[in-house]
Amino acid sequence: MPPLRTYGSKRSASARATAAAMFGQAEEDLAYAVGSLSLQPEEEEELTLENASIIPVPASLLPLVTAYKTDIGRPLLVQDWNDILDDHADVTKIAEASYAEVYRVNTAAGSSILKVMRIRMEEQPESMRCYTASDVKAIISEIRIMNALTTVPGFVTYKDAHLVQGMIPPCITKAYRKHVKALKRDGGWSHFPVPHTLPEETIYLVIELGDAGDVLDEVGLDTKEQVWDVFIGVTIALARAEVTNEFEHRDLHENNICVKLGPKRPVGDDNHDDANGPKYGSTGWEITLIDYGLSRTQLPNGEIAFNNLEDDLRLFGSQGFGIARVQYETYRRMRTYLILGTRTVKQAGWQKDFRFRDVKTPRSWSEFLPYTNVLWLRYLLLMLIRKLKDKHPSLAKNVEAEAKELKRQFEPMTKVENGAFSTAQDVLVWLVGAGWVTEEQISGEDGTSFLTMGEPETEAEVEGDNASGDNAEENVEEDAEEDGEEDGEEDAEEDLYSAD
Ligand SMILES: Nc1ncnc2c1ncn2[C@@H]1O[C@H](COP(=O)(O)OP(=O)(O)OP(=O)(O)O)[C@@H](O)[C@H]1O
Ligand SMILES: [Mg+2]
Repeated sequence: MPPLRTYGSKRSASARATAAAMFGQAEEDLAYAVGSLSLQPEEEEELTLENASIIPVPASLLPLVTAYKTDIGRPLLVQDWNDILDDHADVTKIAEASYAEVYRVNTAAGSSILKVMRIRMEEQPESMRCYTASDVKAIISEIRIMNALTTVPGFVTYKDAHLVQGMIPPCITKAYRKHVKALKRDGGWSHFPVPHTLPEETIYLVIELGDAGDVLDEVGLDTKEQVWDVFIGVTIALARAEVTNEFEHRDLHENNICVKLGPKRPVGDDNHDDANGPKYGSTGWEITLIDYGLSRTQLPNGEIAFNNLEDDLRLFGSQGFGIARVQYETYRRMRTYLILGTRTVKQAGWQKDFRFRDVKTPRSWSEFLPYTNVLWLRYLLLMLIRKLKDKHPSLAKNVEAEAKELKRQFEPMTKVENGAFSTAQDVLVWLVGAGWVTEEQISGEDGTSFLTMGEPETEAEVEGDNASGDNAEENVEEDAEEDGEEDGEEDAEEDLYSAD
């Protein structure tokens, strides 16, 4: 274990005493240490109990603290904001998610992303009523997965997590206000409270991440090469993580894929057809998958980290138009596949009424179903073509023509014996076979390809683990409702693929 260090200012003795009183622990019993933080590296000093910034951890946070200790090997402490951020640090608020505010912090050493989440705690009844606060249970799997995947290329760099309490520093409030102003200019508003109006005892989880650039939703697409670099970059990342960690993302929409524009690599020119060259790797774009809130993975100690999506079935009932409709339907497809083992889609009514207890063989979101990665790659291809079409309809037609066979193998109607993909590895094998990406491009420094580490699972294995193919509906108790709407749904979606 590396020596414990602390950076920046220390929490005052009085604040420590207040916190100790609040959570009913004697101050002198606290033997916690402070974790390292990459934002303020200049004031490093040896940690001692005297200079440690220590606040007792409330009981409702123990599951999170325990998971952190298991994975990282040192305690997750409640720190003071000053321990992690200067009052006047260079901070910009870049996004608001349902339960998180996301800030970019610029330092001399580069930029970091802070995902700030207020946590619901029984010890603080006010937090239980706050609709922007998160359940600790939902956060645990996300940070464990971030930590497990951080070294896998294409996955976000996870620097550390911090529990933080005390007065919010002025730089955060300033960034919040600036963001609200920008939202208002566009007729919007913030659903998060003004930070410094929250009680001083509020506890936040701050996740510190590498800066992955801009989300795909905000990046304009102008060339075919950009489309293929995003699509193939995501495929390589997913295929690799299937092999190394039995990973499924389960929520890969355009706000969960980041693009960092890098120096252009000298492989062909954009929008010039090079029939013999690879389609991947000419833009220099760096692609990163973020947001593992719904994801599933195997951790290095063999445990499975996952979010039990049965806890909130609203995810499977959302309705939308255009590409959003396909996104929401993708969640329904994942659940239909988990329950029935079929590649059809059951509609919102069925999803709401159907429970795992209605299935003879018990199902669980802990199962490894790499087909969900295929469903999201299918969504991604469709979304990229539509995005290119917005600005460049004729280029989009061109990409569509190139993607014809790929699309066929993504279609839920296509049978496995006719080439339907079952894993992201299958998709990558196809891309390598087609010459769109070379074996060298997916090799490690020692020249070995991760694809040789494990054969892609066959459909029989995948479906055998799950329910099984078309017969799987027999798995359902007889009184389960049938809705028979799949065919109409498939037809409607077929139109969305078109660049016409
Ligand atoms: N490492 C990162 N680099 C750049 N931007 C990021 C990073 N992490 C998060 N963001 C930005 O913050 C937004 C919200 O983050 P994230 O998707 O992780 O939160 P979430 O709470 O899981 O979101 P939601 O529930 O809305 O999907 C992202 O869509 C992106 O704009
Ligand atoms: Mg997100």
